[in-house]
Amino acid sequence: MSTRVLSGTRPTGKLHLGNLLGALENYKKLQGQDAFFMIADLHALTTGYEDKVKIAENVNEVVVDYLASGLDPEQCTMFVQSEVLEHASLSLLFSMITPLGWLERNPTYKEQLAEIKGKELHTHGFLGYPVLQAADIALYKAKKVPVGEDQLPHLELTREIIRRFFHLYKKQIFPEPEAVLTHAPKVLGLDGRKMSKSYGNCIYLADSKEEVVKKVKTMMTDPARKVRTDKGHPEVCPVFSYHKFFNKERVEGVAHECRNALRGCVECKMEMAEKLNEFMDPIRERRESWMKKKTEIRQILDRGAQRAREVASQTLKETLQAMGLVS
Ligand code: TRP
Ligand code: SF4
Repeated sequence: MSTRVLSGTRPTGKLHLGNLLGALENYKKLQGQDAFFMIADLHALTTGYEDKVKIAENVNEVVVDYLASGLDPEQCTMFVQSEVLEHASLSLLFSMITPLGWLERNPTYKEQLAEIKGKELHTHGFLGYPVLQAADIALYKAKKVPVGEDQLPHLELTREIIRRFFHLYKKQIFPEPEAVLTHAPKVLGLDGRKMSKSYGNCIYLADSKEEVVKKVKTMMTDPARKVRTDKGHPEVCPVFSYHKFFNKERVEGVAHECRNALRGCVECKMEMAEKLNEFMDPIRERRESWMKKKTEIRQILDRGAQRAREVASQTLKETLQAMGLVS
């Protein structure tokens, strides 16, 4: 028996290594199961409703990045959230039973309100972000949700809404989903903070070899290592965290040489950039080739939305029935 899997990515632009290592690696592992991967364009609207950029253009970027990372449309269902209207419907139904306090207490909500400046985010839609996400998951009765660590509070809220639904209507329509984390649920950016588009510290899947080298050169290292003869602490160095992924066979040597001041940070970075580029090369090639296939991509998404609707409309029907709107 294969397990139903669902996850989503907000189309806020090109995907970065944090997206890839934090979640997409698990998408790939799970894609042979009954998997749905969604481009969450409605979620992008919750914070980006004023932006001049067309979300639809970013949708295309994300699909290209999905395909370049190795997701295979023959093995999984890729679709765009707003093309499956059931998401909006179930979100509205869930909003009826979700206490405001749950949403106001959501740590992600509080954090983002504090961090994102210059935008009016005291909106119904932004507060209700997790309700829409719960609907995304519940519509497909998904049991597994591959995500990064930052999504754990949203998964918990999803389970709470599902439990409340059962408590109120005594119908077990939705299983309680669990998060599937990768080995690298949190990837560090160039400045040592979590890699995030809003921090401007990302390496993008679309970056050229040269860009990667240039960015790695600017990367933060162990701040205690001021001169070449200072002994380093690899465990606090973001560059070292990359060696752990991309230079596995040399990682112990790198740590030893760093600790004993036997290597300089510049050469250390160059070695890492080279390994990282080796890892990214096949992704770049696939990216190039999918960029030219706009029609094929549209077909993949059309087929995806159709398949998603089949499942989603059935679940919505059951939900309307349980809530007494259909007899
Ligand atoms: N909130 C997720 C993010 O920012 C994206 C998302 C939307 C999602 N709906 C989802 C993830 C459903 C998992 C399941 O990354
Ligand atoms: Fe980091 Fe490498 Fe410098 Fe050590 S030698 S601090 S691991 S960049």
